[in-house]
Amino acid sequence: MLLTSTYDVVLSMKIVLIGYMGSGKSLIGKGLSEKLQYQFKDLDLEIESSEENTINNIFSSKGEIYFRKKEAAVLSNILQLKENIILATGGGTPCYGNVMETLNTADNVITIYLRTSLPILTKRLFLEKEHRPLISHLRTTESLNDFIRKHLFERSFYYNQADISISTDEGEVDKMVRDIIAQLF
Ligand code: S3P
Repeated sequence: MLLTSTYDVVLSMKIVLIGYMGSGKSLIGKGLSEKLQYQFKDLDLEIESSEENTINNIFSSKGEIYFRKKEAAVLSNILQLKENIILATGGGTPCYGNVMETLNTADNVITIYLRTSLPILTKRLFLEKEHRPLISHLRTTESLNDFIRKHLFERSFYYNQADISISTDEGEVDKMVRDIIAQLF
């Protein structure tokens, strides 16, 4: 980074939550934002408002590749903002293109992996799969479980590169927020 004036030195933090669908990124992100007084952003919502369309419709009308490009572009804009931000990403965000590398090498970005076990993800996601285009077609808990097992295995390569990793299998949101803050500062 080339510093052109003293004002450029003013640092703004981006705390980026990554993890599989249903790992609690939005819930924990909101909790962290309240405690730290950082602005909260949800990448999926930012994409929806920029496209004026739902994630489901973007997937079905424009396809996943279009969505991934848009996702990376919206993320890059957020990373350039000057405010302190807690960002909840989508489950696939760090796993495409060079996103994880960008997060790892960006100044003032801390990544937190919200780690959730397969049985808990299956239970949570079975109840709320309809608005998630990648899993909405899976009709039984067995087929959902098989899908998540394979998908999580592939994605863990990226998730495991996060600066901090915390289990979200059990515990109150407040407690997880406190644990994350204790690791951050
Ligand atoms: C996706 C996760 C979703 C959303 C899109 C794709 C994924 O976000 O970005 O449906 O690839 O895992 P959540 O993790 O917030 O559900």
